[in-house]
Amino acid sequence: MLTGRTIQSKGGTNHQNYLFHLDNLSVEYGNLKALKSVQLTIYPGEILFVTGPSGAGKTSLLNILGGNLTPTSGKAVLPHERSAKHFVASVFQDLRLLQKKSCEDNVWMAYDSSLYTNKNEFYKELEDLARILNLYDHLNRKIEDCNGGLKQKVAMIRALMSKPTALLADEPTSSLDKENSYRLFEVLNHYNHKKGLTLVWATHNKELIKQFPGKIAHLDQGRLVYSGHACFI
Ligand SMILES: Nc1ncnc2c1ncn2[C@@H]1O[C@H](COP(=O)(O)OP(=O)(O)O)[C@@H](O)[C@H]1O
Ligand SMILES: [Mg+2]
Repeated sequence: MLTGRTIQSKGGTNHQNYLFHLDNLSVEYGNLKALKSVQLTIYPGEILFVTGPSGAGKTSLLNILGGNLTPTSGKAVLPHERSAKHFVASVFQDLRLLQKKSCEDNVWMAYDSSLYTNKNEFYKELEDLARILNLYDHLNRKIEDCNGGLKQKVAMIRALMSKPTALLADEPTSSLDKENSYRLFEVLNHYNHKKGLTLVWATHNKELIKQFPGKIAHLDQGRLVYSGHACFI
């Protein structure tokens, strides 16, 4: 079993406590190099914004972290492959919601009786999140009748309520206005503080990054050109 105990950074720091580790990792689609020799370590409880222009490799990076894409070369050590106690939830750009079902029914897809004492506990959290995110009045609406912003909220609530170790979100506020984006991020920040949720968020939203503490992994044409604290960009 991979434990990660043997991996050392170039500076000699022991990385035994990391959650994700990408080592010299590349992804190619035919002749196109989408990720080039990426070296990245993500620790438990971190908030990491993945930034970069369109086509830089953000979605490919999130797909690697979620275990949905196999690297062409290099290595990806992922928490859910190391231990069954870890669950990594992904919110993809296409959201993957059931169009004919209601918002509430889509969230209930995250219900797992081993994670909640009973259905009341699940519903209470669902209700709280729906109220905070201005979704409560739309819970009975079918997804096919919702706008993009409502759909993004449903997908994020569903992912959060699966109680993941880490949440990977691919531009989850692209259809939300400023206030709703901030509200959503405040909720995620709360789960980060209270429950240790690790958050990896691909975004173009510079205002959001400035507002909230976190690290940045900036990609440019598949290369990780900056990795560190947001205050340095
Ligand atoms: N399935 C695929 N097949 C071929 N090329 C792809 C595929 N997915 C992404 N690409 C290409 O890989 C590059 C990186 O894409 P992507 O990871 O989606 O970047 P971003 O999310 O930053 O826009 C882009 O040039 C894109 O066109
Ligand atoms: Mg993308």
